[in-house]
Amino acid sequence: MSTLKGRSLISITDYSKDDILKILDMAEEFEKNPRRNILNGYIVASLFFEPSTRTRLSFESAVQYLGGRIVGFATADTSSVKKGESLKDTILTVSNYSDLIVMRNPLDGSARFASEVSPVPIINAGDGANQHPTQCLLDLYSIRKTQGRLENIDIAMVGDLKYGRTVHSLVQALTLFGAKFHFVSPESLKMPSAVKTVIKNAGLEYDQYTELSDVIPFADILYMTRIQGERFPDPLEYEKVKNSYILSNRMLRGSKETMKVLHPLPRVNEITEDVDDNPKAYYFQQARNGVYIRQALIAAILGLK
Ligand code: CP
Repeated sequence: MSTLKGRSLISITDYSKDDILKILDMAEEFEKNPRRNILNGYIVASLFFEPSTRTRLSFESAVQYLGGRIVGFATADTSSVKKGESLKDTILTVSNYSDLIVMRNPLDGSARFASEVSPVPIINAGDGANQHPTQCLLDLYSIRKTQGRLENIDIAMVGDLKYGRTVHSLVQALTLFGAKFHFVSPESLKMPSAVKTVIKNAGLEYDQYTELSDVIPFADILYMTRIQGERFPDPLEYEKVKNSYILSNRMLRGSKETMKVLHPLPRVNEITEDVDDNPKAYYFQQARNGVYIRQALIAAILGLK
């Protein structure tokens, strides 16, 4: 395993299988004992150019449970970006004030660019429709925790597979573990070819569906996603597909006993609230797992035990 100390995390493909397993194992230890004072004297910058609840706040919780400080902004409107400052200048400036930068930005590729100019490591908290590697790690953690393994999972990914960055990262990671992929989407929101090529190159298979009910009987993981209205160039196209899949409790009859429903959240209306009390619903615990994963990442990247 290569050391993670001082390395940015921009795409999940930046990490080897061993790197990923190391973070999951560290996260397990943080889950047992999340309150440790290892970040005393450290400052993490949190730059969110796009809205977030879970990613931003779980990073903040992760830092504060570990005794560190966090600086930054939750919207670019309160930063000098509003006056026209470039991303390069913002990163070079904020790196003067912090040991590590967590950034979410609506532009695909912006996190990679930031890592190329930054003297401190960057963690990509989501760049456009491209990658969301920390979500990917907490998804893997949730899968391993609920299924007891990562190998040979039957995973059904449902919804916006075109613009949903979480599914792009998760497919890439699960190819390391021999998953079977089942993609459910409207015709216009199919998984991009580049991601499907990754599956083929790994010698694995995927199948594609338009009906959610087709995958429920055999899925180990039902990974629901929101249709990403904000990324559609044409709002009318979003209107056509926005309610394509709505999972209700009744539809889970006949699913595997061990099956879990995951969702990166926020949900809009793709899972009805009557699913929340079903023991197969795991999305709020999944969000909680984000704290432990982000604690593990910060500790590994800063080289702290
Ligand atoms: N899963 C996720 O990225 O949620 P937020 O947009 O609330 O951070």
